Formats: sequence, C-alpha cells, structure tokens
Amino acid sequence: MLILGIETSCDETSCAVVENGRRILSNIIASQVASHSAYGGVVPELASRLHIRNIIPILKQALKEANLHLSQIDAVAVTSGPGLVGSLLVGTELAKAIAWSLEKPLVPVQHIAAHLYSPFLEEKGKPSTSPDFDYPFLGLVVSGGHSSLILAQSPLSYKVIGRTLDDAAGEAFDKVAKFLGLGYPGGPIIDNLSRQGDARYAAFPRPGLRDDNCDLSFSGLKTAVVRFVKDKMKGSVALSETDTKNIAASFQAAVIDTLLQKTERALKETGVSRLAIVGGVACNKGLREEAVKRFPHIALHIPSPILCTDNAAMIAGLAFHLVQSGRFAPLTLNADVNLPIE
Ligand code: KG4
Ligand code: ZN
Repeated sequence: MLILGIETSCDETSCAVVENGRRILSNIIASQVASHSAYGGVVPELASRLHIRNIIPILKQALKEANLHLSQIDAVAVTSGPGLVGSLLVGTELAKAIAWSLEKPLVPVQHIAAHLYSPFLEEKGKPSTSPDFDYPFLGLVVSGGHSSLILAQSPLSYKVIGRTLDDAAGEAFDKVAKFLGLGYPGGPIIDNLSRQGDARYAAFPRPGLRDDNCDLSFSGLKTAVVRFVKDKMKGSVALSETDTKNIAASFQAAVIDTLLQKTERALKETGVSRLAIVGGVACNKGLREEAVKRFPHIALHIPSPILCTDNAAMIAGLAFHLVQSGRFAPLTLNADVNLPIE
C-alpha cells in the first residue's frame, strides 16, 4: 500500500510517500528556517504563506522521487493537529482536494503520534537501524512545542505519562539562544557551542525533579540562565566567547539531565524496557550520547536526525496502521490546533 503523507503543522513543508508503513520512497522537506530566523522565531502568517507557495512543488518532487503518478497513491494522510492553524489548513485542504479528486481515503494524523512512529521508518537505500524495535515502548517526545513522556502501546494507543507544563525543551533552547544573541533555531547552535564549553561552569537547576510525577517544565531553567547572565554582566560590557560557550554547555547539561532523570522515572513507572527519543531536540548530540550511557539495559532507538525534525514520512507511515483500522475522515475534515494524542 502506497500512502502519500502531507505535513504542514509548523514551519516545515513536507510531502512523502511510504510503502506499507515502513519503506520511505520519498520524503521531501522544505524548511522555512531562513525566512523566520530574521524574526527570532516562527511567524505564523509567514509560515502559512510559505506553505501555500511551496506545497505543490514539494508534492511534485515527492511523487517524482518515488517514481509515481498521483493516481497510483492508495490513500492521502495529513497532519490535522496540533500545530499552527494557518499552517495546518494548507495541508488539510490539499489532502482533501486530492482525496476528493482521486476518490481515495483521507487519513487524519495526530502530529505527536506521528513523531512516535518515526523509529519504524526505513530510509531509502539504508537498512533499518533497529529492525526489532517494537511496541510497547516509552517515548520521550522533545520538540519546539512539546516535551512529554508517552507510553506507546500500539500505533493506535497511547498513554501520556508526563506532560509539558510550560516551555517545551526546544522552546527553551530557542529562547536561551535568542537571549544570548546566538540566532534561530537555538537548538543546533547551543548543541554545537556546548561541545566547546565547560558544563560545570554554572550549576543551573534541574526543574521538577523533586516532584512526584513525570511532567516536564523548562521555563524556570530559562529564567535561571537569564538571571545568571544578567548578574555576570553587571559592570562588564558583554559576555566573552568562552563565557557564552560555558553557559551554553551548562544549560544544555541541565536540560539533558532533567529529561533523562524524568525518563528514568517514567521507565520505572511503566515497566517497559524500550525507549524512543523523538522530535527535533532528539537531534541533540549531547542528548543522544548521554541517553546511550544512562540506559545500557534498555532497547533505545533515536531516529536519524532527518526523521527527528518534522517530516511527512512519519505521517504516511503511521497512516498505514490507521487505514488498517478504518480510521478515515470525511471531506469536511478541519484542522484542530489542540488535537490530543489518543
Ligand atoms: O520537531 P521539530 O522539528 O518541530 C516541532 O514540532 O516543534 O522541533 C524543532 C525544535 C526547535 O526548537 C529546535 O531548536 C530544536 O527542535 N532542535 C534542537 C536541535 N535541533 C533542533 N534542539 C537541541 N539540539 C539540537 N541539535
Ligand atoms: Zn514536530
């Protein structure tokens, strides 16, 4: 079964074709980062307009790379939420138009559930990195909008173990980088600077570790960094390059430690022995290395970076299982900015 996936929930325009929920035939992603970086973050109206401009060329490219004609697609899957409303609407309306004109099923996909499906995708021309990875598993979902711990029981069944209380992990990376004047998106910049800094330089807090739950909160940590820098800069002109690298490393270490201690707690609470780390922040080199060190007895899967950030292959992949259980949508499908994971 060939499924076309469409993803436009935030600032990546992506179309993909995935065969039988596993094999990626194409996964084209147009990032809007360059357009938003001047503003230090995603500008929703600009994102919608760029999706409108890019979506048809991206769709054509995805079909071309998969060597297929649109009529050969068996179903059309699209992210219907959560996300930015104007962005989501571009994808949902295109998916509806294709489904209607080809008389093919329309499959709505929840974005976080799709991130949690990324460990099962096989990249074109590459062998599967972990062919035995299976359900149930604990998912640490860390992106610009979410940091959650979710028990994935099957492609169709999820239980939220820990929620995003305020700033998500990626949001904290982006805001701290903006405050330090480093640019957007902050995650990759701080990740790279951290490699050259000393993580013991500043003892930033590990938020919520004393709380009796698996919820994640990063706004206090962001404030602690701001306060530390303001104190440090009293009477001096600017932070030195070395100070900036050390602050980046100390901040990143606090994020990683918090995420992984909460993950350890959630692993104990759920009793599962498999862990996947997904979402844009899962690209973080420090997080990837530390997770391997901390969980030697857990079957750990962190997808390759191209499948961690937003992409349509994860939408088309998960949709295969939704199709099997008849989870289709009518052509009146609307975007839902707060669509919960089931
Ligand atoms: O999953 P994603 O592409 O989009 C959302 O659904 O939010 O995640 C984007 C987030 C951004 O906040 C970005 O700064 C962060 O992922 N990110 C990283 C890294 N690469 C991307 N955070 C930390 N380290 C990285 N290497
Ligand atoms: Zn995402």
